[in-house]
Amino acid sequence: MSQTPCPIVVLISGNGSNLQALMDHSDEGAYSVCAVISNKADAFGLQRASKAGIPTRVIDHRDYADRLSFDQRLIEEIDSFSPKLVVLAGFMRILSPEFVQHFAGKILNIHPSLLPAYRGTHTHERVLEAGEKEHGVSVHFVTEELDGGPVVLQATVPVNSDDTAITLAERVFKQEHRIYPKAVAWFAAGRLRMNEKAVEFDGKRLGVSGIREIGA
Ligand code: GAR
Repeated sequence: MSQTPCPIVVLISGNGSNLQALMDHSDEGAYSVCAVISNKADAFGLQRASKAGIPTRVIDHRDYADRLSFDQRLIEEIDSFSPKLVVLAGFMRILSPEFVQHFAGKILNIHPSLLPAYRGTHTHERVLEAGEKEHGVSVHFVTEELDGGPVVLQATVPVNSDDTAITLAERVFKQEHRIYPKAVAWFAAGRLRMNEKAVEFDGKRLGVSGIREIGA
C-alpha cells in the first residue's frame, strides 16, 4: 500500500486478543498501532503490545476523583499520539459525553452480540438463557449511548444445542479477530464515516445491522 498507514490508539482493559488481531494485521499497511493504553496495570494486552514494540501507557481510573477527570487525562494521553482513530478493544469503561464528543466519529468499539440485541455484559450467557439460535459480534461507532452507536460490521455464528458460554465465546472470538482488523482497515482507507448517527460505507448509508457477514 502506497499510503501512509493510519495511526490508531487502542484502549484495553484485559487479555487483548482483539489487540493482538489488530497488531497481526497491521503489516498489511492500512493502519499502524501507535500506542496501547490500559486502565488496568495487569492487563495482559500490555505485554502483547510491548512484545510488538508498541508504546504502552497505564492510566488507572481509581487514581481519579471522578469519571470526567479520568476521561480528561485519557484524552490528553491519546491526543499526544495524534491518532486518526481510537479503537476500543475490551476497554471496560463507560465513556463520558465529553470523551465521546472529543473524538466524535473517530471511535470504534467491538461488542460480542448482534447489536442492538444484548447490549451490556455477559452476552454469551444471556443468549444461551434466551434459547437463541443465532449470536455474533458487532463493530460499531461509539456514541454517548452505551453499546448504542451505529453498526459498521457484524458476523453471525450459530448457537449449538450443546454450547456453553465458553464454547460460544470461542466461536464469537474467532469472528471478532477476523472482522475488527477489517473494519479498522476500512476506516483507515476512508471508506467508513459516521454521519448523523448512521454509518456511510463507500458513500452509501448502511442499515441497522451494518454489513452483516455469516461467520463460522
Ligand atoms: C471481547 O469479547 C470484546 O468484544 C468485549 O470484551 C472482550 C475483550 O476481549 N467487549 C465488550 O464487551 C465491550 N462492551 P480481548 O481483551 O481478548 O480483546
